[in-house]
Order: sequence, then structure tokens, then C-alpha cells
Amino acid sequence: MSLRSFIAKAQDAGYLVTIAREVDPYLEMARVINALDGQPVLFTKVKGLSYKVVSGICSAREYFALDLDIDQSQLLFALAQALENPVAPQMVASAPCQELVEEEVDLNSLPILTHLPDDGGPYVTAGVAIVKDPDYGRNMCFHRLMRIGPRQFAARVVEGRGTDTALKKTSGESEVTICLGNSIPVLLAAAMSPPKGVDELSIANALRPTPLVKCRTVDLEVPAESELVLEGRITRRTVAEGPFIDLTETWDIVRQQPVIEIDCLTHRHHPLYHALLPGRLEHKLLMGMPREPTIYAAVNQVCRCKNVLITPGGMSWLHAVVQIVKQAPDDGRKAIAAAFRGHTSLKHVVVVDEDVDLFNPAEVEWAIATRSQADRDLILLEDQPSSSLDPSAISIPGQKTRTSKMGLDATIPWYKSTGELRTREEREGFKKVEYGEVDIAVYCASGENRQ
Ligand SMILES: Cc1cc2nc3c(=O)[nH]c(=O)nc-3n(C[C@H](O)[C@H](O)[C@H](O)COP(=O)(O)O)c2cc1C
Repeated sequence: MSLRSFIAKAQDAGYLVTIAREVDPYLEMARVINALDGQPVLFTKVKGLSYKVVSGICSAREYFALDLDIDQSQLLFALAQALENPVAPQMVASAPCQELVEEEVDLNSLPILTHLPDDGGPYVTAGVAIVKDPDYGRNMCFHRLMRIGPRQFAARVVEGRGTDTALKKTSGESEVTICLGNSIPVLLAAAMSPPKGVDELSIANALRPTPLVKCRTVDLEVPAESELVLEGRITRRTVAEGPFIDLTETWDIVRQQPVIEIDCLTHRHHPLYHALLPGRLEHKLLMGMPREPTIYAAVNQVCRCKNVLITPGGMSWLHAVVQIVKQAPDDGRKAIAAAFRGHTSLKHVVVVDEDVDLFNPAEVEWAIATRSQADRDLILLEDQPSSSLDPSAISIPGQKTRTSKMGLDATIPWYKSTGELRTREEREGFKKVEYGEVDIAVYCASGENRQ
């Protein structure tokens, strides 16, 4: 489903907030999006520009479920299925994203938001870049882009990710295309890091049909239904990129980053521009949710994994809860080690049994309180490679960031402190005692509960 069909569906479902009043992309729009965090928003009048702007389309799990036509509880399994079974997209000869072609590019015509007064400049935040790796083929990845001229951006290219490794294999300029106004499957796939050589656009296509079209000026293919596509080159020139607020809701540092030159802009008639507010729910969910299937797959290799949640409190990146069907005494410990393999930026993980609702933080805390003993169930790993996003980690320029990691097995302990194995009946004693159910309407009917 394209971005515009999702917007229509979100409107029908009553989720969409439409702002008809004129809004300035310089500082004002970010504040409005922030005030409506968690809701899809459509700005129909942008100060000085003809574009409409959308935001918040990925700011809650229910919107992903709405787009994919599945129940929210099935999201993890749909992502896992697509990740394991990518389907090569169909190529088409003509596409909505090329309805209009502009070779006289002026990036000032786009409603690129300046989010905060101290930002390094106006930033594209929902653009996915596609490059070709000489060995592994197509790679798709988000890159925040700071506008530095009428045809130039400074791009944040994180070391070791697909774009960076592709760039390091060539000496000259690299062709690139940046797609904006993408479907939700394209956004999800762009946030995934599948094994090298697995095409993210084939993962998007496995989620929902995502036909591709050849670009006009570069040898790359793009989703035919994107709203707008920038074609250009990643140069060898670097400039200062930032400051910019990151996932942590704190300032990211200024770094020397590559300059991208844009040579051609193609778009639909009346294109929708997607503005994603950094550090808020849409950014967080898009970062974290695509890591749940990789943790799920890794844990399933060592025991039976039932569900995984990357929790919002850990900025949807550093913390997870893993739910297992425990079948052996050490399944919880094995699950901890596997979860760290499934998402290498993971810092803290809690493993719970299947009777604990991992979407309810109070239930997870209850499991920690009633089932774990730190000296027995805490796994502490020192000096581990970690996420550069964690401000408390040890960060030395030119070296991989290091951190301590912690995993807590909050599953029912199968052994007693004496070393004796608990019987099945004794293990049942760790479960919550339930009251029977009643039809409460019968008791509260027609004013009988009033005094
Ligand atoms: C909203 C959003 C913004 C992101 N911004 C950047 C960025 O500026 N630079 C970057 O290298 N990765 C960024 N990422 C992370 C990559 O898109 C993500 O890690 C991706 O999986 C990398 O895939 P790859 O390793 O296959 O290239 C961002 C992710 C999201 C969801």
C-alpha cells in the first residue's frame, strides 16, 4: 500500500489529524508534530510551498497493523516471515514517482523542516537511500540529510552499515537515490539489517507488493510508488554535519560526513512529503520494531521463543523483553545470550515466561520481583561492543563504542536454593492466582450500584 493509500485508510479509521491552517516548516511544524506525537498528521498548507506534509504514520503499532492488514499481535511474525522469505520485486516501465521529472533541482522547493533553533540546518529525516554494493548488490538504509545548498546535503552515514561498507569499496563518487514519501513496508525494510546480500526491497515486497522502476539518471531502481525521488552522487567531500537531536532525545555530536550532490528530482503530481520527528515515537518505533524479528530468530535457535518487545523506555533500541516457553532449566540464560546476538546494540534484556504479558511493564516488573535472584539470574557482560547512541557508553574516536551489558532471567526458577529440582506442581506455585470471571454488567445494571 502506498503512502497516500495509507493516509486515506488512516482517515477512514479515524486516526488522521488534518491541519488546514498554514504552518511554517521552520520550527513551527516540529512543535505541532510533537504536540500530536503518536498520531498521523496531514498538513495541507505549508508556508511558502506547494507540498503537503505528513508525519506520525509509524508512531504506533496499530498503524503498521492497519497498513499490513493484520492484527497487531501478528506484526513480529509478519516481519520475521518477510525477513526469512524475501520476494524479488516486479520491475515496471512507468511509475507514479516519475510523473514529473526536474533536472533543474532546487532543494529549497521542498518543505524540509528545521526542528530546533540549534539544529545544523534543515533536515530530511524520512529519506531512504539506495546504493549498490559491488559485492552484495542493492542496499537500502535511512540517512538523515542536512541541506547545505540548493543541490547538496550532508549525510549521516553510520560506520559499518550497508551504505558505509559499499562506499569503502569504491574510490570515486557513488551513485545514490533518496526516496521520500515511502510506503510503510519500504520504511520497515529500510530500517532492517538483513544478512549481507539480502535485498531490503525484496523484504518490503514480501510484506506488500512493492514494484520498482529504473531511475532516470543513475543505474539504480526505486519503489515505483514513492512520492518523490532524488537522484545523485555521494561524493568524497566531507563537511561538518549536525548538531541534530537523535533517538536518545539528546544532541548528537557534529562530525565530518560525506556530501551528496543531487542531479535530478522526480515526483508524483502533488507529492506528499514525509517529515519524521527525531527522537519521538515514529523514529523510535521504526528503529526498534524491525529488530524484534532478528532477536526472535536468534532466541528460537536455542529455545522456544514466543514473543519479543523492544521497549520504548530504552529509547526503542537498547532494551528488550523476551518471552519464552521454558522447556529446560537453563533456557532463560540461553535466551539472554541469543538476544544479544540477535540485536548487537541491545544493552539490557529481561526474559520472562509465557504467562507474563510483555507489553505490560508492571507485569514484567512483577516477574522480576517474584522469580529472579540477582546472584543467580543476572548475567553481566563487561566491555562489549555497543551502540554509539548510548551517551553513557565508552566512546573513543575511531574505535567501536564499548559498554557493559546485563541480562536478567526472570523466568520461574526450576532449581531450589538447595540445588534440588522443583516439581512441575511447585513451579506452578509461581503463577498468579486468578479470581473467577463474572459478567459485571449483571451486577451494575440500571442504577442498582447507586446509593
Ligand atoms: C528513522 C531512522 C533514521 C535513521 N537514520 C540513520 C542515519 O542517519 N544514518 C545511518 O547510517 N543509519 C540511520 N538509521 C539506521 C539504519 O537505517 C538502519 O540501521 C539500517 O538497518 C541499516 O541497514 P544496513 O546495515 O543494511 O545498511 C536510521 C533508522 C531509522 C529508522
